[in-house]
Amino acid sequence: MAGLEAIKYERGTLDVLDQLRLPHETHFDRVSTCEEAFDCIKAMRVRGAPAIAIVAALALAVELEKQTDGCTKKEDLVKYINHKLDYLMGSRPTAVDLSNAIKLLKQVTAVAAAAKTTGSDDEATACKIVRDAFITAAEKILEDDLTTNLAIGRYGAEYLRRQQMPVTVSQDEDAELKLFTTSPPGTQGAADKTYRKLSVLTHCNTGSLATSGHGTALGIIRSLHKMNYLDHAYCTETRPYNQGSRLTAYELVYEKIPATLITDSMAGALFQRLKQEKNISAVIVGADRVARNGDTANKIGTYSLAVLAKHHGIKFVVAAPTTSIDLETESGEFIKIEDRAKTELTQITGAVVDKDGHVDVSKSTRVAIASQEIDVWNPSFDVTPHSLIDAIITEKGEVVRSASGTFNFKNIMPQRWRAQVEG
Ligand code: MRU
Repeated sequence: MAGLEAIKYERGTLDVLDQLRLPHETHFDRVSTCEEAFDCIKAMRVRGAPAIAIVAALALAVELEKQTDGCTKKEDLVKYINHKLDYLMGSRPTAVDLSNAIKLLKQVTAVAAAAKTTGSDDEATACKIVRDAFITAAEKILEDDLTTNLAIGRYGAEYLRRQQMPVTVSQDEDAELKLFTTSPPGTQGAADKTYRKLSVLTHCNTGSLATSGHGTALGIIRSLHKMNYLDHAYCTETRPYNQGSRLTAYELVYEKIPATLITDSMAGALFQRLKQEKNISAVIVGADRVARNGDTANKIGTYSLAVLAKHHGIKFVVAAPTTSIDLETESGEFIKIEDRAKTELTQITGAVVDKDGHVDVSKSTRVAIASQEIDVWNPSFDVTPHSLIDAIITEKGEVVRSASGTFNFKNIMPQRWRAQVEG
C-alpha cells in the first residue's frame, strides 16, 4: 500500500513505527515477541484502537511462526496461545478492538485444535494446524482493517455530502464560495446540483498511523479530499498526548490536504467563526469503544467537542469499524477509562529548534512545563452520550439514531447481535 504506514509485516517479521518520535523522525522498531508488543502498546509507540489490536495479534503470529521446536503437544500450544493473549489484553483497557481480536483468535485456536488428525505424527501435525490457523487469522485482521477503512471513508464522505443542501449561485459567487457539482449517486440522469464543499474538524489521530492504512475519521477526510468535496480540515492539538499536532497534522501535511491546527480550547471560537461564514459542516472523530446504545468512548476532549457541536448545530459523526462496537456493554457508564501518568501533563518531549527555525532531531529533549508537585487527573478517554451523536459510520454503512433515540446495530451486525445480545 502506498502512503504512510505504521505497521510493516511479512510472515515472521513485524516492524512498528515509533510514533513517539513523530513528526521529526521515522523509525521502525522490530517487534518479535508478545512482551515487546506489550511494551510498544503500553508506551504508546503504537496507538489507536485498530493498530493496537493488529500489533498484538501479529506479534503472537511472529512468535508462533518462529516456534518450530517449542511446544510439541497441541494442548500445551493452545494453553500457551491463550496465556499470551490474556497477557496482551492487559496492555491498554479502553479500546475494544483488542479484546474483540483476542476473542476471535481464541475461537480460531479452539476450532483448529478440535480438528482431527490421522497418522503417526499426530501431535506435530495438530500443532502445525493450530499455528497455521492462528497466523492466517492474525494476518486477516491486518488485511480486513484496510478494506474496512476504505469503506468507512466512502460511506462517511457520501453521508456528509448528503447532509449538504444544494445551493444556487451566480457565476461570481461561484469563484468565491468553494463549491462542487455532482448528481447524487443512484440518480443517474438527474440534473447536477451544486453544493458547498465541506469543512470539518477532527480530534486525536485516526489516520493511517492508527490503523493498517487510510484511517477511520481521518479516512473520511481523505476520501472527502479525493472526491473533491473537501474545502478544509481542522485538527485539534489533542492535549495531553498531542496526537493531533504530532500525528494528524503530520498526516494532513503529508497528504497535502488543506488543513489548520488549533488547540483544543479554540474549537468553540472556530465554530462561531465558521458558522458566520457558513463554512463548517461536521466534527468527525474515531472511537475506542462504542457501547450497544451508541455511547462512544474516544480520546479525552471528544465529549466537549460534541457538546460544542450540538450548541452550534453542527453534525457530530463517529467513524468506527464494527470491531470497535461492543454489543456486550450496554451503555457508556460501564466503559473502563484508562488513567495515564501525570507526567503526560507536567512534561513534554520536543526537538530543539535553532534560531533559523530548523528542527534538530538529534537534540530531542524532555522539558518540564508545570510544577512537578501538582496533583494531576489524566483520563485518556471520555464518553460521548449517544444523544450528542448524529451518525456512526461503519464499514457496513451509516447507523443513525432510531426513533427511540438510541443506535441500533442489529441490522449491520446480525450474527454478533444474535450471539451477544439475544443469545
Ligand atoms: O490513546 P490513543 O492515541 O490510542 O487514542 C486514540 C483514539 O482515541 C482514537 O480516536 C481511536 O483509537 C480511534 S483510531 C482509528
